[in-house]
Amino acid sequence: MVLLGIVLCLLVLCGGLLRWNEVRHRQKGLPPGTMGWPVIGETLEFLKQGPSFLKNQKARTHILGSPTVICTEPEINKYVLMNENKGLLPGYPQSLTNIMGKWNVAALHGPQHKAMRSAMIALVGPTAIRDQLLPKIDEFMRSYLCHWNNRVIDIQEESKELWLNSVLKLIAGIDIVPLAKSLKFDFIKLVHGTISLPFNFPGTNYHRGLQARRRVDIILEKLIEKRRASPGESQHDILDALLNTNDTGKPNLTDEQIVDVVLTLIYTGFETVSTTLMMTVKYLHDHPEALEELRNEQSAIRKRKKSPNEAIDWNDYKSMNFTRAVSGLVIFETLRLATVVNGVLRKTTQETKLEGNSIPKDWRIYVYLREQNYDPVVYPEPLKFNPWRWMDQNLEANNLFMQFGLGARVCLGKELGIVEISVFLHYFATMYRYSTLLYNYHHHSFAKLSRLCNSLNPIFFLKEWEEVGEVKILNFPRVEAPNGFQIFVSNTIS
Ligand code: HEM
Repeated sequence: MVLLGIVLCLLVLCGGLLRWNEVRHRQKGLPPGTMGWPVIGETLEFLKQGPSFLKNQKARTHILGSPTVICTEPEINKYVLMNENKGLLPGYPQSLTNIMGKWNVAALHGPQHKAMRSAMIALVGPTAIRDQLLPKIDEFMRSYLCHWNNRVIDIQEESKELWLNSVLKLIAGIDIVPLAKSLKFDFIKLVHGTISLPFNFPGTNYHRGLQARRRVDIILEKLIEKRRASPGESQHDILDALLNTNDTGKPNLTDEQIVDVVLTLIYTGFETVSTTLMMTVKYLHDHPEALEELRNEQSAIRKRKKSPNEAIDWNDYKSMNFTRAVSGLVIFETLRLATVVNGVLRKTTQETKLEGNSIPKDWRIYVYLREQNYDPVVYPEPLKFNPWRWMDQNLEANNLFMQFGLGARVCLGKELGIVEISVFLHYFATMYRYSTLLYNYHHHSFAKLSRLCNSLNPIFFLKEWEEVGEVKILNFPRVEAPNGFQIFVSNTIS
């Protein structure tokens, strides 16, 4: 009897709380939907059901600590992303700002955002890549991939370390493989922390994220301290540029700003570049005809080189039509099909009219990108991996493709991300041959190809790779292989 009474009380209380959260956010002109529980809203359903929650459920909900409107219409998404000046600012959860720091570019707007953005573009934009970063990326990828010998490699883990090692080399100019390994675990905690509710007590993702941030800070502060201690020794890397002083001898940025910028650079590419790289390898594995075309393109570039160790230069990179479009084509198609970025968040700073609805001030807008990647009119047979579709028309310019965002916040690391993946693919495709492809697909030309590659470059002897076991891919809340994506790399084929 007592138990029944408790259960009844709980039911009434729950019903009351649900109703209260509903009434509290009720306002004329809102799109349909439900708000769930106070504070947590429908976050758990959102994280659990992902695309089906977003697609079928409603346009209005309460997730990640805020009342939120979900936009799936490409035209509205475009409007939201292009209209920061109408008060539609980045609306990432408080946990992201707290963990990433107040100088992280997503937390800035207006003139501060503009200034920080142009400072960052100078560090990682196309000109910096062409003149300074590309030779370093090339050297790094070549030596990193050389060591994949006779072992099982988890591409998911390796791609994270690869990004960290590569970007740390660009930032601090030193080879820091052990440091990258320990940073990887902290960055995973940091990423999970930034998309969690800001409950700071032991055991929560947010708490772990904050702790990881403190550990990363210590590492970065030591790097800065060490660099300041030897002012004469210019390393020509990103840290050098960040430590630059102005005409009066004053630093352009404070140490706090420098740490936030470095962290932002590492963080923003951490999931995006590593996941795209992993999914590119997966799709190429599943589509031998695309892998073969990519290999042909990359082998042709290698063949043009005068000496075996000659690096990839800007012109080579620009000539990677299939890799860029095709690795760009391959890379864009991977981003589209895997939807590496499910959506981006904005917040309203004033009451905002959107497609006949009225969104109150301080609400979030979730610009949901997944569905528009599968529009059958623009992408016939949308669930098929077809890099060639990008060749026929300029799909990149059609504004439906928003995997790098749009407007004032369009990704400033887009070119760097594509270069990293393209150079990786160059060495991966010219050093390693997928074994089933070799036997089933190009059996007849094997001997010829083997000689060709050996004559091109003594280090470019062929090694084989194959997928180990069945790879399961989840696509929400982030694209990941929960059991890893393992390949076995075997030694030279003679
Ligand atoms: C395949 C790789 C990448 C993808 C798919 C990607 C995607 C995106 C997207 C969708 C946005 C827009 C966010 C928004 O509108 O709120 C964005 C912004 C940004 N990205 Fe990337 N990104 C990639 C690589 C990188 C890399 C390598 C870096 C830096 C090294 C980077 C740095 C940034 C920064 C700093 C912003 C914020 C720009 C601003 O607020 O003005 N991204 N990225």
